Amino acid sequence: MVVIKKVKTREELKMVHDIRREVFIEEQGVPEEIEMDDKDDEAIHVLAVVDDEPAGCGRILFNGSDARIGRVAVRKKMRRSGIGEGICKLLIAIAEEKCVERIILYAQLSAEPFYARLGFERQGDVFMEAGIEHVMMIRQI
Ligand SMILES: CC(C)(COP(=O)(O)OP(=O)(O)OC[C@H]1O[C@@H](n2cnc3c(N)ncnc32)[C@H](O)[C@@H]1OP(=O)(O)O)[C@@H](O)C(=O)NCCC(=O)NCCS
Repeated sequence: MVVIKKVKTREELKMVHDIRREVFIEEQGVPEEIEMDDKDDEAIHVLAVVDDEPAGCGRILFNGSDARIGRVAVRKKMRRSGIGEGICKLLIAIAEEKCVERIILYAQLSAEPFYARLGFERQGDVFMEAGIEHVMMIRQI
């Protein structure tokens, strides 16, 4: 059974950090000091669990009328079964509750089609972040 929920406990936040370490630092080679930034305390985090096993995560930050989704990750063996989409749909629902006007994200170029399916539109040119090609994408609420 897949459960996707808002993070409420320190143990759940630890699971989020473990997934991000596995996906971004170990798999993608993102430097730890970039991955583990100082925004986690102010973010709302989402955790996906499959049959009691941590599977994926994401977070959302708020700044005035903007929300920013980031750190969306699904463990490799659990990809392409709708977990990433489920995480983003919950993050979008959280943004809708807060009455923001738009959601911004910096998508890895390879994930652009994934976010496009969720209603995000590409803005501007490709740029580099943590050695990976990114593109800014926006979804109006
Ligand atoms: C991007 C990521 C979160 C997607 O998670 P996922 O659970 O595999 O995604 P879903 O199964 O919900 O995908 C939903 C749909 O999005 C599209 N999609 C997902 N990953 C895609 C990819 N890499 N390329 C193109 N389309 C993709 C597909 O249309 C997919 O539907 P389908 O499997 O029926 O074709 C996951 O691949 C991941 O963690 N990647 C490494 C970390 C990363 O790049 N995070 C994004 C940071 S911006």
